[in-house]
Amino acid sequence: MQLPKLTPLQSRLLASAIATCALILIWISFQPRYFVYAVEVPLGDPAEASPHDETITLPGDDVRILDAEDGLGDTHFGSGEREKTEARSEGTLEGGYAPDFAYFDRSLIGRATDGVDDLANGKMMSSDVDPGSTHYFRLPAPKRRRTIEVDSERASNASSTRTEEEEELRKRQQNPGATIYISVATCLQPEPNKTTGIVNDLPEQLTLYVSQSSKNTKPGPNAKNDLATDPISLQNGFANYTLQASSDIFLGVSAPNLTADWKGKYSFQVAASSDADYHGYSTLDNFLFMVDADSESALFITKDLTTGNTSNDTNSKWMETPSPFTLFTFTQTMWEWFGVEALSQSYCGLQAMYNATKGNATVEASMTDRYTGGTRLPKGQLHAERLNASQNYLGVLAFPGNASLDGLELPDNITIPRGGLVMKQFGFNTTDVDDSCQVIFGLGFCSDTAYAVPSSSKFKTNTTGLAQLYDQQAQQYFTNFSNSLDQVACDTTGTAQYSLARTCTDCRNDYKTWLCSVIMPRCRSWKETGDELIPRNINAQFSDGSIPFPSNMSLEFNQTMRQRFAYNQSRNPMIDQEIQPGPYKELLPCETLCFDIVRSCPAQLGFSCPNNHAMKLTYGKMPDDPNSRDLTCNKPGAVLNLSTLRGAAGRSGVSGSLMFVVATLIGFILWL
Ligand SMILES: *[C@@H]1O[C@H](CO)[C@@H](O)[C@H](O)[C@H]1NC(C)=O
Ligand SMILES: *[C@@H]1O[C@H](CO)[C@@H](O)[C@H](O)[C@H]1NC(C)=O
Ligand SMILES: *[C@@H]1O[C@H](CO)[C@@H](O)[C@H](O)[C@H]1NC(C)=O
Ligand SMILES: *[C@@H]1O[C@H](CO)[C@@H](O)[C@H](O)[C@H]1NC(C)=O
Ligand SMILES: *[C@@H]1O[C@H](CO)[C@@H](O)[C@H](O)[C@H]1NC(C)=O
Ligand SMILES: *[C@@H]1O[C@H](CO)[C@@H](O)[C@H](O)[C@H]1NC(C)=O
Ligand SMILES: *[C@@H]1O[C@H](CO)[C@@H](O)[C@H](O)[C@H]1NC(C)=O
Ligand SMILES: *[C@@H]1O[C@H](CO)[C@@H](O)[C@H](O)[C@H]1NC(C)=O
Ligand SMILES: *[C@@H]1O[C@H](CO)[C@@H](O)[C@H](O)[C@H]1NC(C)=O
Ligand SMILES: *[C@@H]1O[C@H](CO)[C@@H](O)[C@H](O)[C@H]1NC(C)=O
Ligand SMILES: *[C@@H]1O[C@H](CO)[C@@H](O)[C@H](O)[C@H]1NC(C)=O
Ligand SMILES: *[C@@H]1O[C@H](CO)[C@@H](O)[C@H](O)[C@H]1NC(C)=O
Repeated sequence: MQLPKLTPLQSRLLASAIATCALILIWISFQPRYFVYAVEVPLGDPAEASPHDETITLPGDDVRILDAEDGLGDTHFGSGEREKTEARSEGTLEGGYAPDFAYFDRSLIGRATDGVDDLANGKMMSSDVDPGSTHYFRLPAPKRRRTIEVDSERASNASSTRTEEEEELRKRQQNPGATIYISVATCLQPEPNKTTGIVNDLPEQLTLYVSQSSKNTKPGPNAKNDLATDPISLQNGFANYTLQASSDIFLGVSAPNLTADWKGKYSFQVAASSDADYHGYSTLDNFLFMVDADSESALFITKDLTTGNTSNDTNSKWMETPSPFTLFTFTQTMWEWFGVEALSQSYCGLQAMYNATKGNATVEASMTDRYTGGTRLPKGQLHAERLNASQNYLGVLAFPGNASLDGLELPDNITIPRGGLVMKQFGFNTTDVDDSCQVIFGLGFCSDTAYAVPSSSKFKTNTTGLAQLYDQQAQQYFTNFSNSLDQVACDTTGTAQYSLARTCTDCRNDYKTWLCSVIMPRCRSWKETGDELIPRNINAQFSDGSIPFPSNMSLEFNQTMRQRFAYNQSRNPMIDQEIQPGPYKELLPCETLCFDIVRSCPAQLGFSCPNNHAMKLTYGKMPDDPNSRDLTCNKPGAVLNLSTLRGAAGRSGVSGSLMFVVATLIGFILWL
């Protein structure tokens, strides 16, 4: 085959045509991939915001560029710049937060004024600020809804001729913009400039200035013009502000001048997000309860995290989830000395103060479904240990921001912001070292038992051994009882059954509840006062060798107190023989525990509650008001309402006066 012959002119034409094509190819390959580069993202479906959805669009086309999650429109930077808007394919969402304002002009980021830090959507920034100075931040304009913008762009041919002011006004009027949640939390504050005594004032708070105007890009104490809102003083280390933004937001965080009482600088976190506050504080009441405290530990429990209608799957999932709770504890001395109250609404502030002041203290967080008042639902449990004895403490329940709930929901609409959530502080106190009570929980048999029981120095560091001693005794008694119950016609049905309403299972359960309560008396410190507390073991000595009631040696007192079994022994003889506590006081079991056994168990077993007079000495009564949380007698799940222990402002003395009722030996001796 032969190539067609070309004339010299034809050859030259071909050569230049080939060269032109090559040039064009090279030119194209050096060009940006698209003349207009944009991403079409379907509204509200972040999953589809993949690069495959990129479409080449001509200038002037109605390009819809939306922030994946919240439908923010594209950034408005004046006409003409729109097409340059570059879509970064960072459409992935992290824990439900858009990590960034994904779409805005990169050229504008570099425009930030010196000394102004750029914030990214949903990202926290920490910073230091010296007293009397201000730190500035800028959040680049969030996206605007595209449709509005395109129309407005088309309508205006001369936006560049408008004054800046008109432009800003126009933007706001046409587009309310995106909701932006701004929050600031103080993480460190100045230290007391003293070596002794108590500083009476608290360190002053930081102040947040917010501006949306290009006329005030460094809002602060010296630039209060054109602010979006009055300066916001942080409250106990926390401030938040929500606004509608369609243009850049400028923030100033200003530190006050210090009084001579305090020295050092402030450190804080600031975050702006289109989703929710990054930091959180809650005043929710009745969420955490104190189970009991001894000289070096305190046990707390949250309310039920689910309801009776929750599926069993969800409940078991809660039990397997790592606890989303933590607790910060401070002795009142530390709290006041460091002015911790001034940080008490800030997770990072409390965490840093706790870390600096806790000494050997530890907190163990776990989940439990121990019985409390009728339900066996998941709850959080917090065990603070290695506390100092005889101290007023302040505690703050907190939710770490990295807590993984894995789809589970907390009650009361609680959501955990990424910077952590703190609740209002409460007061509690630890008992005297000399105290004979020790908190036990998590027992194998008496699994609902969680409170302080009589103990002694030999078990101070052997809580497990102490718990086992009681638990094994309870289990032995229960085995004996269960054998007796088996002699009774338990498994019969119909008319032969002892009761139509109650079964042997009820009897076993009620007996077990009662047994665990009487074998392990609820112990209160000798120093607690109240008519409802019965002194026990009063002839024993305190560790310093002294005895109770040293000033009363009268015969009458000896006859009515020292020689009475009710006072000079423990309810359970094993306690005096093996544990040998010092003098202590006891909270009686609730009389309902006795009534329940009598009602549930077959009459052949011969259970009966003591008569009226003895009953009063043996069992405690529930408070008259069924909604009252006063602890007047002991039953499984009896807890203290922390809100009743709260100091007025946290600084004033916090002391819990616990109310307890009296018992005698009768219950134990009669029925075992
Ligand atoms: C702090 O003190 C300086 C000098 O006394 C003063 O110029 C400044 O305005 C004060 N700052 C604040 C926030 O009060
Ligand atoms: C441009 O805007 C001006 C006033 O803003 C208006 O008078 C003029 O007609 C507009 N021109 C076009 C082509 O829309
Ligand atoms: C700390 O206190 C001393 C004396 O009370 C005072 O001279 C000093 O200025 C104070 N320091 C600060 C940083 O206020
Ligand atoms: C500020 O934070 C509190 C506590 O987290 C929240 O209840 C409140 O709604 C927030 N307010 C604003 C304006 O965001
Ligand atoms: C459980 O659901 C029922 C019916 O939906 C409702 O009446 C009841 O109040 C719910 N109980 C709890 C504890 O939420
Ligand atoms: C959970 O399981 C128990 C026992 O298996 C059953 O009685 C109860 O109805 C279940 N509760 C729910 C909400 O499914
Ligand atoms: C707690 O303090 C120790 C030193 O005392 C420090 O190493 C650690 O990073 C601190 N942790 C936090 C969470 O502040
Ligand atoms: C911490 O524990 C150690 C060892 O038990 C003890 O020596 C030290 O005094 C404790 N520190 C505090 C602050 O209680
Ligand atoms: C606890 O007691 C020890 C020893 O007396 C002391 O050094 C420590 O500061 C105390 N801890 C707190 C948190 O008060
Ligand atoms: C939780 O939210 C629902 C609906 O948003 C509201 O009806 C309810 O009152 C809220 N509960 C609490 C405790 O705030
Ligand atoms: C703890 O107490 C148990 C029960 O009395 C005892 O057997 C054990 O030896 C004790 N352990 C220690 C370390 O004292
Ligand atoms: C009462 O008992 C105490 C302690 O056992 C004893 O020291 C005192 O002498 C007794 N008083 C009388 C009047 O017996």
